[in-house]
Amino acid sequence: MTVVTVPSSPPVEPFDLVIFGGTGDLAVRKLLPALFHRYADGQIPAASRVVGVAREGLDDAGYRELVRGVLLETGAPEDTVEAFLPQLGYRSLDARKDEGWDAFAELIKEQPEHVRVFYLSTSPELFVDICNRLGHYGLNRGESRVVLEKPIGRDLASANQINDAVGKVFGESQTFRIDHYLGKETVQNLIALRFGNALFEPLWNAGHIDHVQITVAETLGVGHRGAYYDRAGALRDMVQNHILQLLCMVAMEPPSSLAPDAVRDEKLKVLRSLKPIDEANAGQLTVRGQYRAGVAEGESVPGYLDELGGIKSSTETFVALKAEIANWRWAGVPFYLRTGKRLPTRVSEIVVAFKPVPHSIFDAAAGPLAQNRLVLRLQPDEGVKLWLTIKHPGPGGLRLRHVPLDMSFAEAFGVQQPDAYERLLLDVVRGNPTLFMRRDEVEAAWRWADPILSAWAASGEPPRPYAAGTWGPSAAVALIERDGRTWNEDSE
Ligand code: BG6
Repeated sequence: MTVVTVPSSPPVEPFDLVIFGGTGDLAVRKLLPALFHRYADGQIPAASRVVGVAREGLDDAGYRELVRGVLLETGAPEDTVEAFLPQLGYRSLDARKDEGWDAFAELIKEQPEHVRVFYLSTSPELFVDICNRLGHYGLNRGESRVVLEKPIGRDLASANQINDAVGKVFGESQTFRIDHYLGKETVQNLIALRFGNALFEPLWNAGHIDHVQITVAETLGVGHRGAYYDRAGALRDMVQNHILQLLCMVAMEPPSSLAPDAVRDEKLKVLRSLKPIDEANAGQLTVRGQYRAGVAEGESVPGYLDELGGIKSSTETFVALKAEIANWRWAGVPFYLRTGKRLPTRVSEIVVAFKPVPHSIFDAAAGPLAQNRLVLRLQPDEGVKLWLTIKHPGPGGLRLRHVPLDMSFAEAFGVQQPDAYERLLLDVVRGNPTLFMRRDEVEAAWRWADPILSAWAASGEPPRPYAAGTWGPSAAVALIERDGRTWNEDSE
């Protein structure tokens, strides 16, 4: 296969990026490595500063030491790491106490020309306090932006409270609600595939598409994020945001351009067209599960409740559901969505299954005719497969085979795909919100998710157990098989 070289991008303007929650898992595992990669690629100007903020009593040197360890563990070259570290600093602050904020404000004000980015990688309960202080200390001016990590609230009411309060300090155009799934290469590729090829659009509707599947499967358990996760559960943690955003990218009408609001207007229409799932139908359309002890990747692992220290909890670690979009393009096309922790493999993919041919001209000996499927693999092994029916080569009569036209990004481009945060962090600096959620999108997503959560609460039924290392409760298989369909076998 021809390997295409990917041009590197030009540097961005000098910026100051403050990461609240700077010692947390997301900052250390994702944000700082993403910044490092952009630095190594020459995109981060030398004058830029990255300031970690958290309550821990560290200083600049201690923070650099922490980050050095993490980067070296990832195999980053030592000399590049050493060159990057002086751009990092640290301030110990408590969002709810005044101490230290004056000095912090002075530090930031040293560079009035820099684009300022305040990344709130903390629990959403702190968003309002942090924004109020940023406003109070005069840190929001001109080119300043705030990044809010998901989940924004735990339902529509709490999301509104947060958005209202943040909105008193930062305008909507300064507010970047991040959903890192939108920064994944394959998700952006879906835009290229759908709107850069004339091939798909005529078929992209209920007339030709039988159903869509979106799977985000993880092998890990909840680990040390138990305290957060147990209050969230799979619907709030993954479906309300990541999976609905993927669904929007598949289902939206062609936007008139890639201008931020052109894209976000179309996504919003999809969210508003989702058919409600509530007490009347949640029993048929949703399955919730919780993992028990089992074997994951060859090792015995404890169940969810034991992992959290033997607690009692009816939080779901798995959810499968059948959604529908009530509009002309999609009426009657089911979108089967599923996600879970402690599943057998780590795989995220979107499967668009086309309708079968209207009439078969082949005899039984040719073998069964399978449906065409377009499979977008988000991770691992990012790529696109288009499953087609062809003739099995050689003599012996006309026998049919189902094979993929297979485009693996790693093979085609010969490079490792950048992490989603690399693209998104620099989009914030550039002030491009196309791949971020607008307030009304977040609200529309909660408006759909809230009745599902209420229906589950009202039913009082605990989540169905599944053994770690399996594909969730058997009811999730039944959910799709009842309709005469199956989950994509390639992922299982
Ligand atoms: C996060 C969720 O948003 O996404 C986690 O809070 C989940 O629970 C993670 O593990 C998955 O992201 P990725 O990029 O590893 O698929």
